Formats: sequence, structure tokens, C-alpha cells
Amino acid sequence: MDAAEAVRTKLEVREFKQKRVSSDVKRDVLEAARLTQSSMNSQHWRFILVQEPDGIRRLAETSVTGAWIAGADFAVIVCTTPGKSVYLFDVGRAVQDMQLTAWDRGVASGLYTGVKQPEMREAFDIPESLSPVVVVGFGYPKGRLLGKKKRKPLSELAFLERYGKALELDAKA
Ligand SMILES: Cc1cc2nc3c(=O)[nH]c(=O)nc-3n(C[C@H](O)[C@H](O)[C@H](O)COP(=O)(O)O)c2cc1C
Repeated sequence: MDAAEAVRTKLEVREFKQKRVSSDVKRDVLEAARLTQSSMNSQHWRFILVQEPDGIRRLAETSVTGAWIAGADFAVIVCTTPGKSVYLFDVGRAVQDMQLTAWDRGVASGLYTGVKQPEMREAFDIPESLSPVVVVGFGYPKGRLLGKKKRKPLSELAFLERYGKALELDAKA
């Protein structure tokens, strides 16, 4: 799968099969996060791989908007240092790289940002200097992925040369 195909076909998935994901895929996912660019190459993030059922259960308990994580095969908690400029931009890129790498290997994923910070800190020994800002859950998707992305048309989102001017691209250019 090339990069454009991965972007075109990847959907957010919140229901997973019981089938275990290999350590090789988990390593590839974390390696993708490690290789992601960050502002001033600060690499302020830290990643916690959660793969034991007890850890997955604790994630569900400490979640506000991601109860579905209970069905994931494994998860990655992304922590960062709040206050750094554009730190959430960096985190978003690392998350996207992890999700696309997994998807290339047939492993689907979903993310949530709603976490009970104090409870999560305690459950996963996260130091005060770091904030857990997003959790990504991974697993083989349950059923066939027939979903279609609900996105606005390009004509509504992108313009040519100046805001509001219709985008016309010459296919041969
Ligand atoms: C910054 C961000 C925060 C999100 N937070 C949550 C969340 O808390 N819980 C959740 O289930 N999905 C969350 N999502 C997933 C979005 O709902 C999902 O990407 C969107 O519905 C598009 O899904 P699709 O690609 O399957 O069409 C989040 C996505 C992003 C980019």
C-alpha cells in the first residue's frame, strides 16, 4: 500500500477482532512514532505500549471518550510536555504515522483524547512532568471495512491563489 492509498482508505475503527497483533507490528508502530518529525526535533513525546488485558481494562476505566478501547488488542498512550509550542501538532503527526503504519499492515486503529488525567497518571506511573494527551487503540478490524469517509468536497475546502477563488487543476500539468 502506498502512502496515498493508506490515507485514502484508513478509517477510524473502534471494534476489533480477538486476534492478537504480532510484536513486529507493534515495534513498527512505535518506530513510526519515534521517526516522526517534531518542532526543533525536540522529541518531547513518550510512548507507553499497553498490551496486557489488565492494562487495557485500566485504560477503559480512565477514559472519558474512549470506552471502546476495552476491545483493542493493544494501545499506545502518548505523553508530552505541555506548554511546548505546537506540541499537540507534533503529537498529531506521531499518531498519524503510527496509525498509517499499522493500517499498511492490516491493523486498524482509533484514538481518543478524553482521559481522566490524574487517574491515568496513577494507573500508568506517568510523572507530573508529562501529560497523557491521547490514546491510540489498535487491533484487527471486526468485519469488513465498508465505511466511507464523510468529508467535505475539495471545492469547499481548497482554493487557488487566494481565498475564495475556485480550484481548477489541469490534470495534465
Ligand atoms: C484530535 C482528534 C481527537 C479525537 N478524539 C476522539 C475521541 O475522544 N474519541 C473517539 O472515539 N474518537 C476520537 N477521534 C476520532 C474522530 O472522531 C475520527 O477521526 C473522525 O470521526 C473521522 O473518522 P473516519 O476517518 O473513520 O471517517 C478524534 C480524532 C482526532 C483527529
